[in-house]
Amino acid sequence: MSVGVPADADPYRAIDRQPDPEHFITFLETRGATRDQVRLRRHFLRFCGVRVGWRVLEVGSGTGVLTRDIAATIGPRGCVVGIDPSRVLISAARRLARDRRLDSRIDFRVGDGARLALPANRFDCALAMTVLLHVPNSAGIVGELARVTKAGGVVGVQDQDLGALVLDHPDRMLTRRILDGVAARTVVDPWSGRGLVGKLIAAGLTRVRLMTEVFQDTTYTAFTRIMLERRAENAVRFGITSARRASQWIRTLERLAREGRFVMTLNFYGAAGIKPAIPARSR
Ligand SMILES: C[S@@+](CC[C@H](N)C(=O)[O-])C[C@H]1O[C@@H](n2cnc3c(N)ncnc32)[C@H](O)[C@@H]1O
Repeated sequence: MSVGVPADADPYRAIDRQPDPEHFITFLETRGATRDQVRLRRHFLRFCGVRVGWRVLEVGSGTGVLTRDIAATIGPRGCVVGIDPSRVLISAARRLARDRRLDSRIDFRVGDGARLALPANRFDCALAMTVLLHVPNSAGIVGELARVTKAGGVVGVQDQDLGALVLDHPDRMLTRRILDGVAARTVVDPWSGRGLVGKLIAAGLTRVRLMTEVFQDTTYTAFTRIMLERRAENAVRFGITSARRASQWIRTLERLAREGRFVMTLNFYGAAGIKPAIPARSR
């Protein structure tokens, strides 16, 4: 789906070409360590029914936050392949998995999720977490997840929905302009979360289910701070507001946090479906 974002505007499409690819390692690992994100991933893997001994694929594996959880869930008899186009992230993912002694059951490879160099019908489960909102051809990726999954296996996708990002701030107009304005200029499909069920059905999956989870932050965690400071910087870059108003906006959030009044929530949607033995479209 094209929502009007220029081809290269979403930094997640080409992390290695960004001025500071290392920033994405810090961001993804900081996000992954947040208590609510740990819970979201646990629920997502349970929702997809991932079990001991399974062979699992994760597309857009980034630094391997979810891949390591999968490795822990499937145990030593299972295996997980993590695919990501970023060499910087794949190399960080290998190192982080080695540090945690999970590398023997994880195979990280550089690749494009829409053109997987993998045979059909190979995995018990194929997943993509917070990837589809960043790619222009999400249907191509979902199609590949379905192709490499065995009949009866599970395809699961999860995305946040940036149209459901709620932040309490006294300057409501500016808050909307910064949050919606920056998302519209930097994310291919900011509303991807609510469209996941439709994407799985379009790919021919059956028994498609939806899971809704709310990420909640009332303490202004490191992850939220990095994310909102980046939003404020980008709002200045895109001419949405002045540098002075953007830094005032951030200072107000810091004050709210000091006073114990910080509130941000973000909806995450998961969808899972089963690959039919006979493709749904030809029945
Ligand atoms: C927001 S990150 C999510 C990383 C990881 N799934 C997580 O939740 O921590 C999006 C990831 O999608 C990857 N990505 C972008 N385009 C892709 C494509 N065409 N195929 C597979 N992955 C892609 C990026 O390199 C990045 O690692």
